Amino acid sequence: MVHRHLIPLLAAALACGRDVDSVGARARPPAAAPPRAARPDTILPDGPLGASIRRGLALLEHTPDSLARYAGGNLRCTSCHLDRGLRPNAAPLAGVHARFPRYMDRADAVVPLEDRVNYCFTRSLAGKALPSRSREMVDIVAYLAFISRGPAASGQVAGLGMAKMPALKGDSVHGAAIFTSTCARCHGVDGAGVATVPALWGKASFSIGASMARVERAASFVRHNMPFDKPGSLSDQEAFDVAAFVNSHPRPDSPGKELDWPSGGAPADVPYATKGHVPSARIPVLPRRDPGASLVAPPVSALARGAR
Ligand code: HEC
Ligand code: HEC
Repeated sequence: MVHRHLIPLLAAALACGRDVDSVGARARPPAAAPPRAARPDTILPDGPLGASIRRGLALLEHTPDSLARYAGGNLRCTSCHLDRGLRPNAAPLAGVHARFPRYMDRADAVVPLEDRVNYCFTRSLAGKALPSRSREMVDIVAYLAFISRGPAASGQVAGLGMAKMPALKGDSVHGAAIFTSTCARCHGVDGAGVATVPALWGKASFSIGASMARVERAASFVRHNMPFDKPGSLSDQEAFDVAAFVNSHPRPDSPGKELDWPSGGAPADVPYATKGHVPSARIPVLPRRDPGASLVAPPVSALARGAR
């Protein structure tokens, strides 16, 4: 429910779409202050903070164009965090500023928000880590903080993460038929994406270390959000089948992935070997050009593990 309130408010707060879309290099001073309505805490602030928030949203929506050095392929942040990061069951970012720092079992460490953003740069975008103190990171965090105010301030918003799916097994042969009939018209017959539609596999897609490379996570995203123009039209089983097909193709490697879940306990569908975990299906990987730059330095809490 939180989102129902937030979406129109955010749209109003960001005033005119053109302003937001043209932020990039030439941030214009905000036009006339937006009308002060019932919930002032969701209205875009004036001045430098408002400009930073707009730039942050623009980076989320135009990641490969604005940050070509840091985004590996043709996905943008809002390829998965749909509706400017506000859609339930599409890993909503509303309230995220209140949810971090957070313990993540994948890293076995308490992770600050900037590092979490960089996990998505390096894994979901198959790109490079953005320096934490860069203006671009500050802008992204400013936007995330902005959509964590007002109704989302507790951090607990509707449809958090991606809904857990029933325990089913995907049939990639049936999934191939669904892909051809239902997905290829937008994502391309080769899954490489077409124009603004992002790639599902291959060198321009998310890496093997992304949550989306897990069949159950991809099935959940697809079940609730795809096909883009008719979400909810696939059954749970069809979503698993097409996710199994999508995740049977090669995608960029994720350097250091074998160090994930350093204390064990990787979910069953993680497609690579980690401590105590043998994958049931392996995804072929494509090499990364600059593997060192796609690693996020371990948080202090992980380095100081001996002291805990
Ligand atoms: C391929 C899909 C994909 C792309 C592209 C992507 N993400 Fe994510 N992101 C996810 C998934 C999946 C999660 C985990 C959601 C969960 O289970 O809580 C996530 C989680 C996050 C979180 C933590 C959310 C929370 O509530 O814990 C942040 C912050 C985030 N992403 C930011 C970004 C940013 C910034 C970008 C662009 C640089 C980006 N993401 C690109 C899929 C993606
Ligand atoms: C009408 C066009 C359309 C159809 C049909 C469609 N998609 Fe998408 N899909 C999109 C768009 C557009 C995005 C990115 C959303 C955005 O940028 O706002 C997307 C994003 C995705 C993503 C997350 C980003 C990525 O590239 O990995 C996955 C996974 C996905 N679609 C899978 C599928 C599957 C599987 C099907 C078939 C069941 C499908 N889609 C059908 C348009 C479509």
